[in-house]
Amino acid sequence: MRTTLLPLLACPDCGGELRFASLSEHPRPEVWLESGTLACAGCRRQFPIESGIPRLYPKHSLASGVRRTQTSFAYEWLRYPGSMPEDKPIFLEETQIPASGFEGKLPLDAGCGMGRYSRVSRSLGATVVSFDLSESITRLIPAASEDPGLHLVQGDLLHPPFKPGVFDVIYSQGVLHHTSSTEDAFLRVAPLAKKGALVSVWVYGTPGSWRSFSSNPLRTGREWLKKVLPLVWLVVWIRQILSDSVRVVTTRLPVPLLYALCYPLTALGAIPLLKYLTFSVHPHFQVRLIENFDWLAPPYQFKHTKEELREWYRHAGLDVLKQLPHGVVPKVGVLGRKR
Ligand SMILES: C[S@@+](CC[C@H](N)C(=O)[O-])C[C@H]1O[C@@H](n2cnc3c(N)ncnc32)[C@H](O)[C@@H]1O
Ligand SMILES: [Zn+2]
Repeated sequence: MRTTLLPLLACPDCGGELRFASLSEHPRPEVWLESGTLACAGCRRQFPIESGIPRLYPKHSLASGVRRTQTSFAYEWLRYPGSMPEDKPIFLEETQIPASGFEGKLPLDAGCGMGRYSRVSRSLGATVVSFDLSESITRLIPAASEDPGLHLVQGDLLHPPFKPGVFDVIYSQGVLHHTSSTEDAFLRVAPLAKKGALVSVWVYGTPGSWRSFSSNPLRTGREWLKKVLPLVWLVVWIRQILSDSVRVVTTRLPVPLLYALCYPLTALGAIPLLKYLTFSVHPHFQVRLIENFDWLAPPYQFKHTKEELREWYRHAGLDVLKQLPHGVVPKVGVLGRKR
């Protein structure tokens, strides 16, 4: 970590100010601090800095579901090939934030995984704080140790170790539904945004009620679905019920065993038509493998409607600016602004 990160941090337990208690190097802004200790001025708890990352977990040991989440995401992201050419267009489409919205800004990447989208927002001129629960974040160490505009923090979004109102932008791509409560996680993260800041979140969607499904925004080119919408609604519900049933088993399997079982499933993904029985149709085998595993492994995988997410935005004092259009399966994404 660098000294420039310290003013943003707060104790995950009591919200107190954090200070350096011990350090391997003399703290100067340009120096990457490899190891040391942070101490809370309020509750006096100490936190380690290991491999340059402040590890700011809450005091109570993580619940077993959270530990499984940590293990499965570390397993997948440490095996992910790396940044892909599609990362930037996907990031801009999913966050719904224009590329010009990052220059000179301070965004929080809330649940950064291996950091593909942190790299994109950094390339757009932002000083980025990448945050994650799992060891996946360690893949950003080589970049962060060379780059004063990329900060890394490890912890739990349900106890975010940041001061309120410090970030210009917050984005969270496919993360909050993997916590024990998507709503609680959203309501803990939203206060970290400054007044006027943009907050972009997408979470897994559920078909929900007919009223909700039939008013979902469809992506350009998918308007024809409107003609057969009741059938589509039924199919998406059946798919969700089948997938949830399979996950009752897969989320209980040892992580390496499940990963091995994903190989034959991933091979199906290369066969026309049969590929739609799997959870990823990505052309790259390793990416497909990880996307299948990513669907089947995490213990928490909640699904929501756009109405729920919009309600959470309002509750957190954010105006809704945009709703993400999507295909057959709802993907619930909202861009909002802090009042
Ligand atoms: C599906 S991955 C998405 C990663 C990244 N946003 C991306 O799209 O590449 C979900 C990430 O959320 C992280 N995560 C899950 N629960 C978390 C929590 N309670 N606090 C912080 N991160 C969490 C996982 O460790 C994982 O890296
Ligand atoms: Zn404290």
